Amino acid sequence: MQDIKQQTEALTVRDAVRYRRSIRKFKATAVTIEQLEPLLEDAVYAPNHKLTEPWRFLYATTDEAKEAFIKRFITFFKRNNPEAKEEKINQYRDYFSQVPALLFVVLKENENPVVRNDDFAAVSALIQNFQLLAWDQGIGMVWKSGRILYDQDFQQDMGLKENERFAAILHIGYPEEVPEVKSRQKASSLLTELK
Ligand SMILES: Cc1cc2nc3c(=O)[nH]c(=O)nc-3n(C[C@H](O)[C@H](O)[C@H](O)COP(=O)(O)O)c2cc1C
Repeated sequence: MQDIKQQTEALTVRDAVRYRRSIRKFKATAVTIEQLEPLLEDAVYAPNHKLTEPWRFLYATTDEAKEAFIKRFITFFKRNNPEAKEEKINQYRDYFSQVPALLFVVLKENENPVVRNDDFAAVSALIQNFQLLAWDQGIGMVWKSGRILYDQDFQQDMGLKENERFAAILHIGYPEEVPEVKSRQKASSLLTELK
C-alpha cells in the first residue's frame, strides 16, 4: 500500500488523473454534503451533448440514511442470493458501516438510443470529474456498479422515476488505504497511424 499522499497544494490535472485510486477502506472521519456539494457544482461542467444535463443525485451521510441503504442493499442481496450465508451478509454490513458517505448518481434515460448513449458518456465524464475534484481535496471514493443499479424494486424504493436509472453508487470517504497503482497498457501500444 502506498502512503496517503499528503496534499499541501492543489494537484495538477495530470497528477489527479494519474494518481487517483479507487478507495475501498475509509477513515472514520465524516464527509458531509457541505463538502461534496461544491465538488458537484464543478463536476456538472462535464461535457454533455446538447446540454441535456441528464443527471441528479441522492446522498446518504447520516447514520440513519446509511442504515436505511444497508437494509435495502441486504434485501436486494438476499432476494438475488437466497442461499447466501449470514457471514457474507455480515461482511457487507461491516464494509458499508465504514463508508462515510454514499452518492447515488441518477441518469435520466432518453427514449432515443443515440441520445441515451451520449448521456451515459456524459454522466461518466461527470463522475470522473467528481472523483478527481474530490481527490484534490484528499477525499477518495470507489465508483460502484453491479446488478443493484438495475434492480427495479431497489429503484422504486429509492424513488426513481420511470425514465431514470442509476449510473453509479459512489462510496466516499477519506482514504484509510490507498492501493498501489494498477498499471495500464502503454497507450503507444494502442496507437495506430492512419495512412
Ligand atoms: C463504470 C465503472 C464501474 C465500476 N464498478 C465497480 C464495482 O462495481 N466495484 C468495484 O469495486 N469497483 C468498480 N469500479 C472501479 C474499478 O474497479 C477501478 O476503477 C479499477 O479497478 C482501476 O482502479 P483505479 O480506479 O484505482 O485506477 C468501476 C469503475 C467504473 C469506471
